[in-house]
Amino acid sequence: MTRMPVSLPQQTGAFKTMRRDAWYVQPVAVFLGLLFFVVYSTWAAFQGEYYFHDHYLSPFYAPTLWDAPGVDSGHSWFGPWPTWMPAWVPASPALFILWAPGLFRFTCYYYRGAYYKSFWADPVSCSVGEPRKSYWGERWFPLILQNLHRYFLYVALLFIFILSYDAFLGLWHTNEATGETEFGVGIGTIVLTVNAILLAGYTLGCHSLRHLVGGKCDSVSNAPMGKKTYDCVSCLNSRHMLFAWMSLFWVGFADFYVRMCAMGVWTDWRLF
Ligand code: FES
Repeated sequence: MTRMPVSLPQQTGAFKTMRRDAWYVQPVAVFLGLLFFVVYSTWAAFQGEYYFHDHYLSPFYAPTLWDAPGVDSGHSWFGPWPTWMPAWVPASPALFILWAPGLFRFTCYYYRGAYYKSFWADPVSCSVGEPRKSYWGERWFPLILQNLHRYFLYVALLFIFILSYDAFLGLWHTNEATGETEFGVGIGTIVLTVNAILLAGYTLGCHSLRHLVGGKCDSVSNAPMGKKTYDCVSCLNSRHMLFAWMSLFWVGFADFYVRMCAMGVWTDWRLF
């Protein structure tokens, strides 16, 4: 059979396309969503205050290795701000831990595809012209570092336990009249619990985890447990984008909720 090359009509040049649909809506929405989150989370991480309210702890500050200077949150693993800490270190506990979930998300396969398109238009969308001619790929420095994602996964799995424990702590409240600690569910308890669930849904649907539990080879493991766990992770993986956005929005909201309660702007309603 003779094969004939067929050339499709196309427009070349940055952002040129023959598409008639609103292809730019998604990259612009992703750009704005990610930008908003990065700005807010950076601002919140540098605050070093209003990161806890009663037994609630903001997920941006979990785990709290050391409390901020002059603060006793009751959540600190190693006590107060160390005296040996150099003066140039910003006095915020969030800065010690946020690198882990931050790099996990930054190197996530979904987010890579999203910010490659929306932040540096590479490519901005299917069959839309790119502003550059070279192709970097992920086999060379610096993008080859994206492959560290599989190692950040182990740290991210730890964070599921830490944030679940913090949600559990949110079941206890201080009775303002008696000073006693009592069991109960407040809006904050629900906010922190949903945060842990969404984070688990996002992390347990990770492509690297799917590869890890599926047998680590180019074919799926035949072991019964291997196949079962592979199918479970695949189920979450098929909704990975959804969990990525929901967990991103909710973790920011959880910090905002705790912050508002700590500042006395919002009251944490108790359901019982
Ligand atoms: Fe998205 Fe691993 S691929 S979290």
